[in-house]
Amino acid sequence: VDPTQRPLYYADYLKLDTLLDAQRLRSAQRGETVHDEMLFVIVHQAYELWFKQILWELDEVMAVFRRERVDEAEMGRVVALLHRVTEIQKLLIQQVSVLETMTPLDFLDFRDDLVPASGFQSAQFRLVENKLGVRPTDRLRLAGASYSARLDAPDRAMVEQAEAEPSLHDLVEAWLERTPFLDLGGFDFWAEYQGAVKAMLEHDRQLVEENPNLTAAERAEQLRGFEQTFAQYEAVFDREKHEALMAAGERRLSHRAFQAALFINLYRDEPALHEPYRVLTLLMDIDEGFTAWRHRHAQMAMRMIGRRVGTGGSAGAAYLTRSAERSRVFTDLFNLATFLIPRSARPELPPDVAQTMRFRFEE
Ligand code: HEM
Repeated sequence: VDPTQRPLYYADYLKLDTLLDAQRLRSAQRGETVHDEMLFVIVHQAYELWFKQILWELDEVMAVFRRERVDEAEMGRVVALLHRVTEIQKLLIQQVSVLETMTPLDFLDFRDDLVPASGFQSAQFRLVENKLGVRPTDRLRLAGASYSARLDAPDRAMVEQAEAEPSLHDLVEAWLERTPFLDLGGFDFWAEYQGAVKAMLEHDRQLVEENPNLTAAERAEQLRGFEQTFAQYEAVFDREKHEALMAAGERRLSHRAFQAALFINLYRDEPALHEPYRVLTLLMDIDEGFTAWRHRHAQMAMRMIGRRVGTGGSAGAAYLTRSAERSRVFTDLFNLATFLIPRSARPELPPDVAQTMRFRFEE
């Protein structure tokens, strides 16, 4: 039957002829089908489908942030899409245990058939990383070569293009820099906030000094920690200090964007900041979700291949664990909690600023 002549058919709509014909087992090609290779192929394909969906969502979110002005209705949509990504990530992590029903011994029956292919060559995964904002300088080199050296030419071009374009991190940074709430007229919010934080840190320092359970060494250690916190906190007010932290690789967001993110966290009870706060939280969830997946994948690799090298030629599990730590993107958002103060100590916003942040429906 000509498919164009019949009512839409399930298998045609989903292109199942292509999709379900795409599991070609290498072991079968050499005439010794290994039962578990089917699982191995399907699990990888399922991952690639979900990566495709994540890219679809990220592209949409990035298109919104690329606009000069992001209005409230669009923020709601961004929140919904980012939340969807976090739900997909939960599946990505759970799927690892399905693959782990294959034992290391089963894997050895076909592992040599894969060499030198590796998940390391997943172009979609690299696209996700680059779109989120993993930078070339964050990358580990594999046998002296760039991560993209193992990709074929079209994949490499695609991945490198994404690397060159503004990432979600860049776009969110620009969006934070544009928030109108930092220019609070004559009110010196940051000076008041600074006083409040100092009082709080002084109080915490007092607790350390008076804690009878600490040894002298532990106390000295904790007090040193305070010095560091003070230094970081001074950078919140002093752009030059902030830029020094940026140069040292300890901060990534610009000074203004960092201040805006902090402001959103501090005043998230204000209606106008609900959605921006959700966005920042979801970006952290996504960052954490990929880190969790990477660690889970590293554990699985360890269980499957022990201390062997990977099919792609890396040091294997040790490489993967290091890569997990180097691939975080929104680290500054995690650092913000250092600078939060209790609501009771938070400077009150000037009435006109507070006013613009409340929604009111007039009859
Ligand atoms: C038996 C199961 C698996 C083992 C033993 C394994 C092992 C490894 C190893 C050792 C590497 C490092 C590169 C190399 O030397 O090859 C790697 C990289 C990678 N694998 Fe897997 N893997 C497995 C399954 C998967 C699955 C199901 C996915 C899902 C797409 C995946 C995605 C990746 C990705 C994206 C990388 C690059 C990570 C990075 O560079 O940070 N792997 N894998």
